[in-house]
Amino acid sequence: MRKIPGGLAVHTFLREYWQKKPLLIRQAFPDFKGLLNPQQLISLACTEDIQARLITQRQKKWQLHHGPFTKIEFDKLGKSKWTVLVQEVNHILPQAARLLQHFSFIPHARLDDLMVSYATQGGGVGPHFDSYDVFLLQGCGRRRWQISAQQDHTLIEHAPLKILRSFKAEQEWVLEPGDMLYLPPHYAHNGIAEDDCMTYSIGFRAPTYQELAEQFLVYLQDRVRLDGIYADPYLKAQSHPSEISADLLRQVQHTIEKIKWGKRDIANFIGSYLSEPKPHIFFDPPAKPLSRLRFEQALRTRGIMLLPKSQILCHGETLFINGIAHTVDQDTYRLLRSLADTRQLGAASTLTSMALELLYQCYLDGYIALMENKRKV
Ligand code: SIN
Ligand code: CO
Repeated sequence: MRKIPGGLAVHTFLREYWQKKPLLIRQAFPDFKGLLNPQQLISLACTEDIQARLITQRQKKWQLHHGPFTKIEFDKLGKSKWTVLVQEVNHILPQAARLLQHFSFIPHARLDDLMVSYATQGGGVGPHFDSYDVFLLQGCGRRRWQISAQQDHTLIEHAPLKILRSFKAEQEWVLEPGDMLYLPPHYAHNGIAEDDCMTYSIGFRAPTYQELAEQFLVYLQDRVRLDGIYADPYLKAQSHPSEISADLLRQVQHTIEKIKWGKRDIANFIGSYLSEPKPHIFFDPPAKPLSRLRFEQALRTRGIMLLPKSQILCHGETLFINGIAHTVDQDTYRLLRSLADTRQLGAASTLTSMALELLYQCYLDGYIALMENKRKV
């Protein structure tokens, strides 16, 4: 039976809690002390191209700053209440990407990122709600979580961040390292650092219907092909030339109604859209790439891993690799689906020539890397 961290059966979690109600899991990750220390997190927050926020609280006044920061800015904070939050830590630390694999009981298409926060005693982001499901895993230190099913989601006006005007905690717990709290979307919560502490937020994504519709229209725009040109050989004289005639409208309506799409378009669209890297993400191709032959030899002896920023989603016989659809044969599909599932492919895997071709291209694009050569270690 598949289990979620902490031991609850996956099907019970999905049936009883997912998108329905909160769940506190004591010692979901026994002995978990965190993946990085506060100084390392601060260094990340001071790095270009990393999304970081700093939230300070002084006399009940909230302030929000966006990174990258300088170390001096952190030194100046002194003993005040503050918290720094860094997004997409799973793109930077391989151990963070591995932590996310414990959450593979939720499809990869729904996973967003791992955000890590550090807060000084009393610090936090204030009472709020998120639009997404989240698992809040406690790293070092302790954090008090207060939660509420309240329907009043009115926010404080003109505050620089989303803070609930009136938060009425209904339940609260102090989380120790390794404890985890699951919250469904729109569940009000407030996390206050009991002492200097770090929290790991495993966040999920759910596009709005509006976003889906708009993006699907963008997808269609590149694929729609309608022959012909507007024609009016039977044009009637109009007493008001400025008026758009019913005939013109009818012809346009008939033309637009010819735009059709099917299940295949929906699958192609959603696979490409959900596997597409966010606009700020860039890949680093290898500086001195191996030749195709050397790559193949290395692949057979060392295996490969999907690099943390890469995403492969699969459907039917199509692989969506970082936003691009590749329709492949069944054996290639099975092989690369296993790479997508586990983010690695063992040395002994049987390769099809199509798989080899795709993997070599992925290697050149900086999407995958060869595993460390064990003999060298
Ligand atoms: C935090 O880590 O302080 C914020 C997490 C959250 O409330 O979503
Ligand atoms: Co939140």
